[in-house]
Amino acid sequence: MKKPCSSLPLAMLLVSTLVASLSAQEDPTQEQTEAAAPAEIGPSGQPIAFPHDVHAGEYEIDCQYCHFSVERSMRAGIPPVATCIGCHAFVAGSQNPEEITRLREYADRQEAIPWNRIYKVADHVQFPHMRHIAAGVECSNCHGNVQEIEVIQQVNQPLSMGWCLGCHIESGASRDCTVCHY
Ligand code: HEC
Ligand code: HEC
Ligand code: HEC
Ligand code: HEC
Ligand code: HEC
Repeated sequence: MKKPCSSLPLAMLLVSTLVASLSAQEDPTQEQTEAAAPAEIGPSGQPIAFPHDVHAGEYEIDCQYCHFSVERSMRAGIPPVATCIGCHAFVAGSQNPEEITRLREYADRQEAIPWNRIYKVADHVQFPHMRHIAAGVECSNCHGNVQEIEVIQQVNQPLSMGWCLGCHIESGASRDCTVCHY
């Protein structure tokens, strides 16, 4: 995979896509992930084979550029198609151009990509991302080294009460039943 000859083209893309995505991200609570239509699944298990290693690893795009609400809300947030198109209106894709074609088709139809959830706690459990980020817990503690993962899979299975409590005991965080169940 080729790198750009300097970081300037990517920096310009970042600016243009930021403008495009700001308007699309006004409502971070909007359920971008849970579209009504059943997902059309490729071999990656996702409607589009989105490579984290290329974006977060090779091109060093910050996690929060896409997972925009992780610092301030319960949910990390999944980027809207407009965030992708900010770059992929120009970046065609040299390895899997058909994936970019499908991405552009979602954008043309103004349709949210029906991503399948990978990490999900039971309905009776509350997981606040913002409290963990504020306490300095790294994404990698719970999601593994995403910069090197091509297709996201759960690395800490299952998301059991024992797993949560193990770290809470170690780090002196609350063990009160009602902080996680209410
Ligand atoms: C800041 C710019 C940027 C953003 C935002 C971005 N991408 Fe990319 N993406 C790239 C670059 C650069 C590549 C590498 C292209 C290449 O190697 O030809 C890439 C590669 C890809 C590839 C692999 C294509 C290939 O041929 O290797 C897919 C699929 C993809 N992106 C999907 C997405 C999706 C979906 C989103 C939104 C969630 C997104 N991208 C957001 C810059 C971006
Ligand atoms: C260019 C946008 C982009 C960047 C940068 C990015 N992600 Fe993602 N992320 C996505 C998209 C789109 C999905 C949904 C598709 C999937 O699961 O692969 C996703 C999914 C995830 C998931 C799984 C969500 C679920 O369904 O449970 C985790 C965990 C995650 N990202 C963590 C990270 C971390 C950590 C970083 C930084 C190291 C990062 N991401 C950087 C776009 C991005
Ligand atoms: C202490 C563990 C922990 C840390 C740290 C953490 N996550 Fe998560 N993440 C989870 C759990 C648990 C879920 C499932 C939450 C649910 O079902 O409500 C999740 C879900 C997600 C999702 C999917 C749905 C959503 O919008 O919340 C994304 C994307 C994600 N995390 C990204 C990140 C990123 C990016 C970081 C770092 C900036 C991060 N996470 C830090 C444990 C963690
Ligand atoms: C890797 C360590 C780690 C893991 C794993 C972890 N947590 Fe935490 N959690 C923390 C830390 C550190 C804090 C912050 C404590 C503080 O703010 O004083 C915290 C805070 C919280 C809070 C807020 C507590 C309060 O006092 O209001 C809740 C709720 C919570 N976590 C739920 C969960 C759940 C549910 C899981 C499992 C799905 C989980 N955590 C997994 C480290 C972790
Ligand atoms: C740090 C977060 C956290 C705390 C504190 C916590 N739990 Fe849980 N609890 C969980 C998670 C996550 C699950 C879901 C486990 C799963 O789906 O496998 C769970 C599941 C449960 C279940 C359902 C078991 C099952 O088989 O699904 C019960 C009952 C429960 N907890 C009771 C309690 C009680 C009582 C306390 C206080 C002594 C407590 N929990 C404290 C995170 C927590």
